[in-house]
Amino acid sequence: MRDKRTSPQPPLRFVTCGSVDDGKSTLLGRLLYDSKHVYDDHLDTAIEESKRFGTQQGDLDLALLIDGLQAERDQKITVDVAYRYFSTPRRSFLVADAPGHEQYTCNLGTGASNADVALLLVDARNGVVTQTRRHVCVVDLLAIRHLIVAVNKMDLQNWQQSPFEKVQQDLLEYSKNLQFETITCIPISALHGDNVATRSENANWYQGQTLIENLESIDVQTTATQQPFRMPVQWVNRPTSDFRGYAGTISTGQIETGDTVVGCLTQETANVTGIFDGDQSVSRAAAGQAVTVLLDREIEMGRGDVVSDPINPADVSDQFAAKLIWLNNDPMYPHRQYRIKIGTQTTSCRILDLRYVINVNTFSHEASHELQRNEIGYVKLSTSKPVVYDAYQSDRTLGGFILIDRISNETVGAGMIDFSLRRASNIKWQDFEIDKTTRGARFRQKPCVIWLTGLSGAGKSTIANALEEMLVGGGHHCYVLDGDNLRHGLNRDLGFTEADRIANIKRVAEVAKLFVDAGLIAIVSLISPFRNERRMARELVDTDEFIEVFVNTPLHICEARDPKGLYKKARSGELINFTGVDSPYEPPENPELLLLTEDTDQDVLALRIFEYLNENGYLK
Ligand code: ADX
Repeated sequence: MRDKRTSPQPPLRFVTCGSVDDGKSTLLGRLLYDSKHVYDDHLDTAIEESKRFGTQQGDLDLALLIDGLQAERDQKITVDVAYRYFSTPRRSFLVADAPGHEQYTCNLGTGASNADVALLLVDARNGVVTQTRRHVCVVDLLAIRHLIVAVNKMDLQNWQQSPFEKVQQDLLEYSKNLQFETITCIPISALHGDNVATRSENANWYQGQTLIENLESIDVQTTATQQPFRMPVQWVNRPTSDFRGYAGTISTGQIETGDTVVGCLTQETANVTGIFDGDQSVSRAAAGQAVTVLLDREIEMGRGDVVSDPINPADVSDQFAAKLIWLNNDPMYPHRQYRIKIGTQTTSCRILDLRYVINVNTFSHEASHELQRNEIGYVKLSTSKPVVYDAYQSDRTLGGFILIDRISNETVGAGMIDFSLRRASNIKWQDFEIDKTTRGARFRQKPCVIWLTGLSGAGKSTIANALEEMLVGGGHHCYVLDGDNLRHGLNRDLGFTEADRIANIKRVAEVAKLFVDAGLIAIVSLISPFRNERRMARELVDTDEFIEVFVNTPLHICEARDPKGLYKKARSGELINFTGVDSPYEPPENPELLLLTEDTDQDVLALRIFEYLNENGYLK
């Protein structure tokens, strides 16, 4: 056993949450102001602004002290700016002030995920509302174990006891099966400062602590250093050929020179020969410190791997069960691909299944095909390569993740890993002696996917049919995967909602991939209206194995042709979710081939694809 290290007590970290008008900014302003941590220039501006807008007869509008932060955020200055530091003689504090969902995102996504306490604002006039319950539920999921509920605007309730007690009762009832260690309700007026730093004279019935007293006395156990050692590798530092240092921030545990460590992905072990904190050589380091670690032998570790305790290493997997908070206006659909960031690892992932959505009012589990903004769901997800992880409950850094949209780059979801669904090493791809090149060579072709996308009635099937005839006539082997036909069998269970189309495209893409492996030319004829899924289909095969062909027929022409009478039905409202009418089509941005069908015969267009294949070495 090692000695417990003594270091100055780190600041208590807390996050604030509450609905828009609950007075969060005013309360934070009050905390900073009462603890005298307002910069003079901020204060001057706030006083000026307060006078200008005649707030409370020229009283200082405390919210303005905080809204300065909002302005900084709007200018996209780093999220860290949103952390405010203040202190009292007894304790120092770091408060993450981020509006709405951003706060969960930065908590989960930045490794600064160590909030000890959540401060929840409730407007005494409104009591506990769904938004309050949602926040409590999320705070619990984030494994924050101390909840302070500031029941604000008590002055507007004439400091009556009953509204406060109602909030307290409702919250305790709501949280009775959650994991909080402490829940403390405090009646306050952020505007006038009652029960924030000083005791209120307006509420003799309240005998508890002020908010500051409570924040000062919360006993948070800093367990991070007692947990097994983990350091996600941020980068490998190699200034000279004989120096190789692994740099990162220790997320849990501690390390000393002489310790043995393991690289989780390769399972290779080595001994620590040196530790640098900046350019200072140190003999030991612990959770929270950013260090460079030197080892006695080279092990293959890059960014994304995790240096770990060898007895108790972090696990590696590519399939997980996780809770997911959805943050984007576009709902989450199973089967869609996203980028996932866990610790320092980034890869792509897919939600395999939405098991249920949690009803935040009752905690009941409800079936759904999609997850809407602010909903919390339980999902199965798979990553495209194995990642190092821990369960969120034991390690927030390696168990928390964010999902990023691959096209807009926005953070769309934040999640917490519960457990792995399988070990990455349990299911391996079986390599057979005969590979796709050999199989393709027998057919005198290089296997590939020709992906025809376009509106219904654009002419995809006709072109696919003509192309197949040409290829077969030339002695090649191919097969048309046609949307309509597949919906008679493999995809019979799917309709035309966004979620079902995504599943449809995903399945067809997987089948096309198998055809390529079988050495065939797969001709896919599918509306496939979404860029995201077409990109997913492309990424399933090698770079030169995917040829996207945009069969570009304008809507009015498809509609005039209306070969199956479906446009007519869609216009009359008899058929819903019809592409181009009440369901979107996202045209390809960079297709390999663009076919304009308006005044060119479809055989000629098929020939264009045939020639493309010929010229680019697909046909031998
Ligand atoms: S996709 O959007 O999921 O790629 P897919 O290509 O499989 O669609 O199927 C499209 C075919 O289904 C159309 O050619 C049309 O015949 C038929 N269909 C029936 N309902 C719809 C609808 N709501 N939207 C589009 N196509 C529909």
